[in-house]
Amino acid sequence: MKSVFLLFTLLFVAAVYGYGEANSDGHPNWVERESHTLLNFVRINPSAYRQNFMPASRYKNVGNILLSGYKPTAPLYYNETFNKLALYHSDDMSKNKCFSHDSCDKTKIGERFAQFLGSCIPAWGENIAVGYSSGILQNNLLICEDGTTCISDGQSGVGHRNNIMSSSYVQVGVGFTNNYITQDFRASGCISDAPTSPIHAGSHTYNISGSQLTYITTFYNSQLTVNSAEIEFSNSRENLVLLYGTANQGAYIYQPTNGTQFSCEPYRFVFSTNNGTFTYPDTGSLITSNKDCTDTYTDHSPSSATTTTVSVALLCIMMIATLFF
Ligand SMILES: *[C@@H]1O[C@H](CO)[C@@H](O)[C@H](O)[C@H]1NC(C)=O
Ligand SMILES: *[C@@H]1O[C@H](CO)[C@@H](O)[C@H](O)[C@H]1NC(C)=O
Ligand SMILES: *[C@@H]1O[C@H](CO)[C@@H](O)[C@H](O)[C@H]1NC(C)=O
Ligand SMILES: *[C@@H]1O[C@H](CO)[C@@H](O)[C@H](O)[C@H]1NC(C)=O
Repeated sequence: MKSVFLLFTLLFVAAVYGYGEANSDGHPNWVERESHTLLNFVRINPSAYRQNFMPASRYKNVGNILLSGYKPTAPLYYNETFNKLALYHSDDMSKNKCFSHDSCDKTKIGERFAQFLGSCIPAWGENIAVGYSSGILQNNLLICEDGTTCISDGQSGVGHRNNIMSSSYVQVGVGFTNNYITQDFRASGCISDAPTSPIHAGSHTYNISGSQLTYITTFYNSQLTVNSAEIEFSNSRENLVLLYGTANQGAYIYQPTNGTQFSCEPYRFVFSTNNGTFTYPDTGSLITSNKDCTDTYTDHSPSSATTTTVSVALLCIMMIATLFF
């Protein structure tokens, strides 16, 4: 099951939610946000990402990837149309049991893009992977290009890594269903109402052994001065820690010492700057969940959010995941 496949294609043809809010179908869901945020973590500093999120004990040869050939680049914004395009493909692969860029019924990938995008199609690239239940494991598989031994930079077969690090791309849609993930990247062009928030994405993730909960987000706008960086929960606000980068172009985390206390806890990221306060999501909250809560988003602020728990799913998911460790 553990496989990756790539298509990199360039085609030169010609919502209504606050930024970071989920749509009525609940997307982006947790894994989609987790994957998106970690794409941004690796883009803004590839070597720091590798050191913090890809332990050498698991990823053999990791010291030979994401070296100086990959320049730090700007984070990606979420695009709902691309989320739907990616999700459609993950759903198709999961339901109809195929693993390819073309649809299971052999519809060409270019036709799928055209069906979602119409006649104005920007340059794009697509990564797909299968086999893991979390965004971090799927992303690291794509970056490593192999489940165990990473392919060194400059060797053939690093197309997923190249897509992830391409400075041509400005937005992404990540679609995740049943351990299938599709990442659809797009260049500028054919965009109206481009988002401008300095917070491109945010989520939470767990380390490789699943025991450390970490909240993750980026702030990226060289014109602004960051006065405070916080995560807001239902009853408290905590300072975010700058993991790497600079205050206004950096990767931020918050690691609670007892992650189990945060099950189904709502949260949002709050940055106060010299030009106003920015939150992610704009008005609602994300929900801390390793798939053990019914929702991954609520349209209330953390202090007024209520959440429900479904406790059975967590164990099953973790058992599936360990098959691939
Ligand atoms: C998302 O992508 C679509 C298709 O290219 C584009 O029309 C739209 O303007 C983009 N949305 C935003 C908010 O950038
Ligand atoms: C995950 O985090 C826990 C708690 O901080 C730590 O003890 C463990 O070594 C970490 N595991 C990995 C694989 O990073
Ligand atoms: C962590 O929090 C949970 C829930 O509040 C509690 O039951 C547990 O004892 C805590 N564990 C530690 C090590 O503090
Ligand atoms: C500051 O905020 C105003 C109003 O939102 C906006 O027009 C302006 O572009 C912002 N300046 C910077 C440097 O972001």
